[in-house]
Parts: sequence; structure tokens; C-alpha cells
Amino acid sequence: MILDSAQSVVIVPGYGMAVAQAQHAVRDLTNILEKKNISVRFAIHPVAGRMPGHMNVLLAEAQVSYDKLFALEDINDDFPNVDVALIIGANDVVNPAARHDKNSPIYGMPILNVDYAKTVVVNKRSLNVGYAGIQNELFFYPNTLMFFGSAKEAVNKLVNEIKEL
Ligand code: TAP
Repeated sequence: MILDSAQSVVIVPGYGMAVAQAQHAVRDLTNILEKKNISVRFAIHPVAGRMPGHMNVLLAEAQVSYDKLFALEDINDDFPNVDVALIIGANDVVNPAARHDKNSPIYGMPILNVDYAKTVVVNKRSLNVGYAGIQNELFFYPNTLMFFGSAKEAVNKLVNEIKEL
């Protein structure tokens, strides 16, 4: 229902989307939202995943059109205008501690400012850490909802729920 009532959605893919091979399900979700006239863009962090261009390759394979993909510097200022930031298996690249916690090992790393969106929905399997091995305070923010599950099944579930609305 949150997605259905949004006008602007930004999807942030991460390593978990790659592991789960969820890119086709994510493409299906994009298509169904766009059919409802909801704007869908992708925010691509330069080190999302485990190799340069990891997310771009997977999304291209799933035939997500390239003009929907935005680099960090091209989309980061727009998050306050975004209704839903939907995080699919990303963790470190959306950890706000990088901006303010001088003791964090990722302090100073540019992150996607998803926490500035009106609502943040995070899909991953648990509250487990990512590559950097640190907890992510984003998961406990008041505008964040956790949507637990392995990405492919979880996103397919969302697609089916939205179809039924
Ligand atoms: P990560 O911080 O590594 O987090 C990935 C998250 O995916 C995990 O917390 C995990 O949580 C979740 N996940 C795993 N399997 C999943 C599944 N089947 N379904 C849903 N979620 C799943 O990923 P990121 O945000 O993409 O950041 C990349 C990290 O890798 C950065 O720290 C970066 O510096 C580092 N790194 C990047 C590169 C390049 S070049 N891209 C190279 C080396 C290292 P759960 O276990 O709770 O599901």
C-alpha cells in the first residue's frame, strides 16, 4: 500500500540483490509500478555489490533501461523529494553513520542519502551486518520499515500484492 500510494520510488540495489539473483523480480516490480504512473529510478552506489559496475550489469541483464539508473552524485540531492526509497539487499552503502560517526570504519565514505526519503523500506533477510561488519542505524530510524526475506521471493511477493490491490 505504501508503494501503491507513492508518486516517486527510488530503488537501491546492493550485494543481496546479486546473491539472490533478484534483478528480474526487481524489473517486474518496476514495470508494475510504472503501469500505475509511479516514477521509478535506481540509485547506483559506486561500490554497491562486490565489483565495479556489479549492479549495472545485473540490471542490464534484466533489461532495466539504462536511463532509469542514476549515479550517487546525480540522485543524492533528490532524496527529500522521494516518497519511498526501496533498498534491496544493500547495507553499507546506505549507512548514515558514514556521514556523522567519526568512530565508524566507514566514516567519510559517500553514501546514498536514502534516510532523507519520506519512507525507507529495507529488504534483507535479517538485521545482519554487510561487508564492513558494522550495524546499520538506518534499520532503526522512525521512517524505516524492515521487509525481511530473501530478495527474489520478497520482491516477487511485493509484485503479487501490488497486482491484487
Ligand atoms: P553489503 O553492505 O555487503 O550488504 C549486503 C546485505 O545483503 C547484507 O547485509 C545481507 O543482509 C543482505 N543479503 C544477503 N543475501 C541476501 C538475500 N538473499 N536477500 C536479501 N538480502 C540479502 O552490500 P552493499 O550495500 O552493496 O555494499 C557493498 C560493500 O562491499 C561495501 O562495504 C563495499 O565497500 C564492499 N566492497 C565493494 C566492492 C565493489 S568494487 N563493489 C568490492 C569489495 C568490497 P542479510 O544477511 O540480513 O540478508
